[in-house]
Amino acid sequence: MSLSINLDITIRNYQETDLQTLQWAGAIQYRSIFVDTYKRKQKNEVVMLVAVANDFPAGTLWLDLDLKSKDSVGILYALQVIWILRSMGIGRKLIETGLEILRSNNLNIAELSVKKDNLRAKKLYISMGFQVIREELSRWSYADTAGITQEIVEDVWVMQKNLTKNL
Ligand SMILES: CC(C)(COP(=O)(O)OP(=O)(O)OC[C@H]1O[C@@H](n2cnc3c(N)ncnc32)[C@H](O)[C@@H]1OP(=O)(O)O)[C@@H](O)C(=O)NCCC(=O)NCCS
Repeated sequence: MSLSINLDITIRNYQETDLQTLQWAGAIQYRSIFVDTYKRKQKNEVVMLVAVANDFPAGTLWLDLDLKSKDSVGILYALQVIWILRSMGIGRKLIETGLEILRSNNLNIAELSVKKDNLRAKKLYISMGFQVIREELSRWSYADTAGITQEIVEDVWVMQKNLTKNL
């Protein structure tokens, strides 16, 4: 006996209540980042997208419209889809929506970083027209649940896509 389930996927803006429902996405472990990012969202520096499957927040993508705006670059980061709903097109849909938002903010280049060992994500980005432009050591930090700062260093490819071309 089999059961088919239809999922209605929509992309919407992050709401404060998502801090509870996005626990699978690290909303507890990375609470300080979620809270800081939400403050930046309120200043329109960041867009926080959530993919909703039926009523369940199943994926995230944040867009930084501000950090490199002088160079006409928008940054995509924090892309993740809950493991059980991967390989169904949700990640691609989030990126497509993110790229449209960058274009509507008159940004000409989309940029992201991907860990060198994340071949699945890199393959997805290449299929969407991103190219590696350099490698770097990416450094970021967050306050853990005990309030202790954790420093993270990651070996990444930096990738870009030109938004003025139809790729
Ligand atoms: C990367 C990630 C966001 C992709 O989300 P997703 O919803 O699974 O992606 P999609 O279903 O849109 O898949 C698009 C493409 O991803 C690649 N991909 C997805 N699942 C894959 C798998 N199991 N094996 C290899 N490639 C895969 C393929 O290129 C696929 O295209 P295709 O299925 O048309 O061939 C998701 O795997 C994830 O959350 N991974 C953990 C967090 C992460 O690595 N984030 C990226 C940080 S840079």
